[in-house]
Amino acid sequence: MIEIAIIGGTGVYDPKILNNVSEESLITPYGDVTYKVGNYAGKKIAFIPRHGKHHSIPPHKINYRANIWAIKKIGVRKIIATTAVGSLNPLMKPGDFVLIDQFLDFTKNRISSFYEGGDRGVVHLDVTEAYCPDLRKTIHTAADTLGISIHKQGVYVCTEGPRFESPAEIKMFSILGGDLVGMTNVPEVVLAHEAEICYSTISMVTNYAAGISKNNLTHGEVLETMAANVDTIKNLIMKSIEL
Ligand code: HPA
Repeated sequence: MIEIAIIGGTGVYDPKILNNVSEESLITPYGDVTYKVGNYAGKKIAFIPRHGKHHSIPPHKINYRANIWAIKKIGVRKIIATTAVGSLNPLMKPGDFVLIDQFLDFTKNRISSFYEGGDRGVVHLDVTEAYCPDLRKTIHTAADTLGISIHKQGVYVCTEGPRFESPAEIKMFSILGGDLVGMTNVPEVVLAHEAEICYSTISMVTNYAAGISKNNLTHGEVLETMAANVDTIKNLIMKSIEL
């Protein structure tokens, strides 16, 4: 039984925290998924790099449904995802970690449900607590144990990408109550919730968002901040798995 899946976002591409790693693949109704399986702390863990092994899949092309379908099929009950985010909130600074608890969906061209009518029916999912409170608590406890400071809550604005946002968009998101901006958490969290998998994301602030940042944004800047903090994210994931 594979208990936990890690979905690695930008900058988190390898499951080096796992032992006895093997590569597996699964055919889903939405396409094939390749993932790794290994052990940590006596538990079997799966790992999927969201953007592919070499960051070759942009946010709007990720096969979210295939990934979540595969994770469900192999019996996973908990997903710990990571995501790089820009910040709209002066209290959430580059280098900070945030356990997001709400989203604002500004995606445009994504299929966001397993339920498309027909045989599978019409389902209107409640997303009051799309991010699993128990798992968020576990990760928060893990952060406290390790002395890592982490924001307990945050509103994630999901944009379509792959471009960054305009300063006017960021101003609008800020007025609407957004704290962070990224390109991948919707529909991932929604599909996990439909699949009744407990899902939580560790967001890592890599930059201030457009118009707040003094510089034009680059993907290089995102990667650089991520690389500087990736070991901390790995430690946090490992401790969360241990608890
Ligand atoms: N915008 C959208 N996605 C991001 C950003 C950003 O500023 N930083 C990291 N991912």
